[in-house]
Amino acid sequence: MAGKSGVCVLGIYNADLIFKADRQPIMGETLLGSSFEIGAGGKGSNQAVSAARSGAKVTFISKLGKDNFGDAALAMYAREGMTVLAEQVTDNSTGAAYIFVQNGTGSNAIIVVPGAAGTITPADVERHAGAIRNAAVFVTQLEQPIPAAIRALEIAKAAGTTTILNTAPAAPLDDAIFGLCDYVTPNESEATGITGVAVTDVATARKAGDVLLKKGAGAALITLGGQGALLHTASASVHIPVFSVGKVVDTTGAGDAFNGGFAAALSRGEKPEAAARFGAAVAGISVTRPGAAASVPRLEETRALLARS
Ligand code: RIB
Repeated sequence: MAGKSGVCVLGIYNADLIFKADRQPIMGETLLGSSFEIGAGGKGSNQAVSAARSGAKVTFISKLGKDNFGDAALAMYAREGMTVLAEQVTDNSTGAAYIFVQNGTGSNAIIVVPGAAGTITPADVERHAGAIRNAAVFVTQLEQPIPAAIRALEIAKAAGTTTILNTAPAAPLDDAIFGLCDYVTPNESEATGITGVAVTDVATARKAGDVLLKKGAGAALITLGGQGALLHTASASVHIPVFSVGKVVDTTGAGDAFNGGFAAALSRGEKPEAAARFGAAVAGISVTRPGAAASVPRLEETRALLARS
């Protein structure tokens, strides 16, 4: 990582339109909910914010619409001190997401319309190759087109930048992508889809981890919701317990908080196990607060939790 620093993230921003209710309506039904909010979301954007709040210098590569949501995104990145490489286009809108959060459990269901970010091409990525090469850690997901993710991973890998692929949302993938990844970070259902192993606990995550390593990944970091995460490499398999720090009010973006925290910790040279534990602490705090990006703690708070755990 000599001469490299910080975290570069390729991904999408969404305006999250967050509806809270006891349950989702069935088709043809109208239901009264209990609250509505608009917040900052998008997996890549949430991960970038999480890395920035976790102390990393962050560059975020994306595409936005020239509209109110896009302007709000840019204002947030300025507040968070992030560098943003995102064209604001006039022929498409900024991404948006319908988010249903269930009262009581904090569980969610999401529909994403990526808008302008759904048109990111390998050529767009190429224009920002320098930012990817200069980063210590590069992170992407699967909300923007997969060819763009592959090109960015290729650039990062060739430059010796540590690569993280968060395989969310679930999508059919050619196995060749895993050879570009130092870390693949699926949740249980994504790991199940990719490997064919039904992942329900640490033991089954280990089996899925073996499959991911065979497919070419350097390491698998499988998130297991309330059961924590598993960091699985050829030489070690370590269970990272969940940090339970209060009542769970909203799990939206918990995986993003985890990935961003993990990337930030790796970028400053922490060992993978310590970085995964850092990511778990960030996620543990985030689920006790509403919203996606809004729920991510800052470095001091995460460090304080780690110090007393
Ligand atoms: O991972 C949570 C995120 O997924 C939300 O913020 C939503 O925008 C979708 O991208």
